Amino acid sequence: MTDQPPTGLPMAVPAAGLPARVRIHEVGARDGLQNERAVVPVEVKTEFIRRLAAAGLTTIEATSFVHPKWVPQLADAEQLMEALGDPAAPLGPDVRLPVLVPNERGLDRALALGVREIAVFGSATESFAKANLNRTVDESLAMFAPVVAKAEAAGVRVRGYLSMCFGDPWEGPVPIAQVVRVSRALLDLGCDELSLGDTIGVATPGHVAALLTGLAEAGVAADRLAVHFHDTYGQALANTLEALRHGIAVVDASAGGLGGCPYAKSATGNLATEDLVWMLNGLGIHTGVDLGLLTATSVWMAAHLGRPSPSRTVRALSHKEQ
Ligand code: HMG
Ligand code: MG
Repeated sequence: MTDQPPTGLPMAVPAAGLPARVRIHEVGARDGLQNERAVVPVEVKTEFIRRLAAAGLTTIEATSFVHPKWVPQLADAEQLMEALGDPAAPLGPDVRLPVLVPNERGLDRALALGVREIAVFGSATESFAKANLNRTVDESLAMFAPVVAKAEAAGVRVRGYLSMCFGDPWEGPVPIAQVVRVSRALLDLGCDELSLGDTIGVATPGHVAALLTGLAEAGVAADRLAVHFHDTYGQALANTLEALRHGIAVVDASAGGLGGCPYAKSATGNLATEDLVWMLNGLGIHTGVDLGLLTATSVWMAAHLGRPSPSRTVRALSHKEQ
């Protein structure tokens, strides 16, 4: 007798009103590793991303072209992108490797390496804009405008991130109208997709529903949106399910639940990709991800970092193997 299905997969029982497939935007190598105390060697990062691609992830955010003093953990962005672009070891035809870029300096560094997809990252609150970008909200938007225009002209896809969409450690709850205003501004700059960030993990499903309804009323359709939940209070999966019910089909997650944000101390890891894939498998929603290979990758990375993965699914599946 066993108390788990022998395959390590849940029984697939579809629920009404959900997308047939979800694209996972994997952020472990960027959002995860940017918050590690130790700087992970570039060879380990390269192997991590290769293993994520082999597990079937197709959008893998690789690194950030930010100031190295602001995020020393990602100061090896050039070396990493060069290693990943090695023509002798291609990652696969469908794999996209977006990188974060705050300004024109960052964009030029990324373009010099042939990057095909970037993300700018704004804030719904003034406090986080100042802490993360040394700018007001509107100054940040002004900094992004030439970046988005130049990227578009180069045929580079642009994602916009919006942080602090639900709560902010300095300002408390964030009014929906404020989030809608900056969301619209980022999309109006020309971002192809907007990822709504719960940077400190304080959202709950009713709040997610209210924000997505507010955005829909302001003319922002769900097919331009992604969600980015941190799991500080264990709400990330519930929030994701609510977003799926509102038509969202792009979900950010980090392998093994790595993550946080160096400029928002109360942020913990992102929604773990394994926990997300377990739920989506159970709902019969296609992701293309091999949960066994992904879990093995997170166990391997946890050994490099010297502590176990916080993902419940990684723990359950890796205990089964022992
Ligand atoms: P600043 O100090 O205002 O920069 O920082 P500046 O424009 O005044 O320039 C100062 C110096 O930095 C100059 O050098 C620039 O050339 C250099 P100097 O002339 O003094 O020798 N510089 C750069 N060097 C390399 N690459 C660059 C670059 N830009 C300027 N790109 C800046 C402004 C935006 C650069 C800084 O605030 C920064 O790098 N911030 C990044 C913070 C960050 O990466 N945070 C984490 C990502 S956001 C996140 O995690 C949230 C998310 O996950 C969603 C969610 O959870 O909500 C996305
Ligand atoms: Mg984040």
